[in-house]
Amino acid sequence: AACGGGGGDPADFPDDNIEIVVPFSAGGPTDTVTRMIAEPMSEELGVEIIIQNVEGAGGTVAAGQVAEADPDGYTVLMHHIGMSTAPTLYPDLPFDPLADFQTVGLVTEVPMTIIARKDFQPATLEELISYVEANEDKVTYANAGIGSASHLCGVLLQQAMGVKLQEVPYDGTAPAMADILGGQVDFMCDQTTNTTAQINEGKVKAYAVTTTERVESLPDLPTTAEGGLADVEVSVWHGLYVPADTPEEVVTKLTDALAAALEDQSVIDEMAKLGTAPVEPERVTPEEHTTVLEEQVASWGETLEGIEAE
Ligand code: MLT
Repeated sequence: AACGGGGGDPADFPDDNIEIVVPFSAGGPTDTVTRMIAEPMSEELGVEIIIQNVEGAGGTVAAGQVAEADPDGYTVLMHHIGMSTAPTLYPDLPFDPLADFQTVGLVTEVPMTIIARKDFQPATLEELISYVEANEDKVTYANAGIGSASHLCGVLLQQAMGVKLQEVPYDGTAPAMADILGGQVDFMCDQTTNTTAQINEGKVKAYAVTTTERVESLPDLPTTAEGGLADVEVSVWHGLYVPADTPEEVVTKLTDALAAALEDQSVIDEMAKLGTAPVEPERVTPEEHTTVLEEQVASWGETLEGIEAE
């Protein structure tokens, strides 16, 4: 294991620190959700949980690394919807999300928001659509690399608007947000876990949420459907993974600790402030997680056909 633990009897698991690998920058949406659950999980398991940010290639560098780790439960991957888009976007992906991993359980589903630098001209989603259509060659769109949620939302946006924008990739949407705040890039679609504070403090312009219902913590924001972009609907599901062949007894202990963390009132409250919630308790299972992963690999495979990373 990366943390030097394990190798021992699964019945003794865990008897050393556990590492959770986050595939994007510190301070961004995936990191934020991971940090929320790490402490209650650590209390439940009785060992330290260390968070390691391994950025690159829209989350696929981290996933590739965990796929090759010892299957002992001491190296865990937090990943999101990108796990299901990567096989289509990366024809030479060095891992298979279904064959090379064991699912631990779903964590949360996070709405996305379409936001822009504060002085970006359009004021509403309708205005954004006409502005982008008229200024296709000069508008810049920030994302966290091909395979990220912000990239996926950008693909849906461009398909819906019939445009091809200049995309500016970052290692995560934390640094992308820094450039939105600094005015170096025009707009992006990013998770509420990273945008709620900036929107509520008026530091960015916000146009819409990408879910079918409005988000309670951002009640004034219309949905994409209300604003004329019904096809831009995406919710960023997250889950925990360990390498395939991890003993079942070990996986069960991780699943149980995750389930306990998601019932922790402070986790529920923190998530609510950022526009999200834990998945329903009955969905925190490897079986449900695998079902979602299989369905999503298939459905994004159709939507993203023909779009490939170099
Ligand atoms: C992040 O943690 O930076 C994000 O999840 C990036 C993304 O997928 O858009």
